[in-house]
Amino acid sequence: MNLFKHNPILNEIKESFRLDLSALQDIAEDFYEELILAVNGQPSSLQALPSYLPTASGKEQGNFITIDFGGTNIRVSSVTLQGNGSWSVRAEVRKPLRDPNREYDLTTTETSGTEVFDFVADLIAQVYNSFPSSQIGMTFSYPMVQHSKNEARLLRWTKELQPHDTIGERIDLMLTESIRRRGLAKLSLAAIINDTTACALAASYQHPAVKIGSICGTGHNSCCLYPYFPEKPPVIINLESGNFNRLPLNGFDKRLHQHTLDPDQQHLEKMVAGKYLGEMWRLILWELIQKDQLPEPSHPLLQQPFAVSSEPLSYLYADPWGNSARQWYQQAGIDHYQPYQLLILQDISAAVIHRAIGLIAASYAGILKSNSSSDEPAVIAVDGSVFRFLPGFKQGVEQQLANLHPDHPPRLLLTPEGSSIGAAVAAALPSV
Ligand code: GLC
Repeated sequence: MNLFKHNPILNEIKESFRLDLSALQDIAEDFYEELILAVNGQPSSLQALPSYLPTASGKEQGNFITIDFGGTNIRVSSVTLQGNGSWSVRAEVRKPLRDPNREYDLTTTETSGTEVFDFVADLIAQVYNSFPSSQIGMTFSYPMVQHSKNEARLLRWTKELQPHDTIGERIDLMLTESIRRRGLAKLSLAAIINDTTACALAASYQHPAVKIGSICGTGHNSCCLYPYFPEKPPVIINLESGNFNRLPLNGFDKRLHQHTLDPDQQHLEKMVAGKYLGEMWRLILWELIQKDQLPEPSHPLLQQPFAVSSEPLSYLYADPWGNSARQWYQQAGIDHYQPYQLLILQDISAAVIHRAIGLIAASYAGILKSNSSSDEPAVIAVDGSVFRFLPGFKQGVEQQLANLHPDHPPRLLLTPEGSSIGAAVAAALPSV
């Protein structure tokens, strides 16, 4: 018997996460309106940050050192573009900005920009010593304003990073100074791009029809090709769509904002991105425990904000009786839950995940309204851990997009390695 089917408390919570097709259509329309405001320089929760780059042709060539500065992991690679839509990666080093054993942590306010970029320059040196190259392409997954493809000023940090004295500063100069200090005088920064732009470039390098790129990972954001400068070819613009805010927030969303460093910002991102999905689920679980709908855990872990990542959420959404989920119940002190209580856990994970799927699809539908010029179904390049590893996520977004765009259902193209390949393509492309 499904004891939880008629639980009014649970049903009310689930209802507060439900978005039907007409709600998603309204959100898509609002997203489109905010996008048009942003490109016209009007106040908007979206931005239109030009990358000064078109999409790729597939003919780009050369050897590059690429940096993927996306979140707490820095990855430096040596990438060769062969020019026919193919590439090879010859070396790769990666190191987290925060040591898992807490021996160092470069993500806090105590860290300076110099320390962060000196750390990056050390990794560059390791790759450069084996595979010298003269040009760097850097994917830097934060909002920045640019006036050419290789110069960028940081607007703000997102995803809980907070080195001091960096906001408003030139990222390209900080990196270049660190490279010089490291004695790598022959290297120069050829391009600096957002990870959504990197995703769009890597995909268009293989499929030149791609005009939209998106990341569904720790953070969430999208970019699209747009005729931004009159008299010039279209360029990719970063929308910083994680900050889209014409969205209905429920009580859990409001509580989640209070646990973040930037409350009341990044509304869409905090409803859909890997950094927050597990926390949203934990907040609901905790409410059910406090309202005596679920037993107390035997361990305090679940009381801590951000104790649940999107990984266990994936396990229990896919199979609440599977081995991975069971192991996690032990760590979280909920291995004494009855089978019907595990079904409740799965049910609330579905509520959180289905809302995220709908919102992402609605944002893509809003972009497509501004962007699609032909009758061909659009292809959206996507990467990120949520997109790759959350079971049924890609299919769910495609299904919702088909509901929102029944005439020409868009296709989603998984674009792994986008941050490295896209950074190399950006370095090879001429600035618009
Ligand atoms: C955050 C950043 C954005 C980035 C996204 C995905 O939303 O602000 O620039 O593209 O995360 O990494």
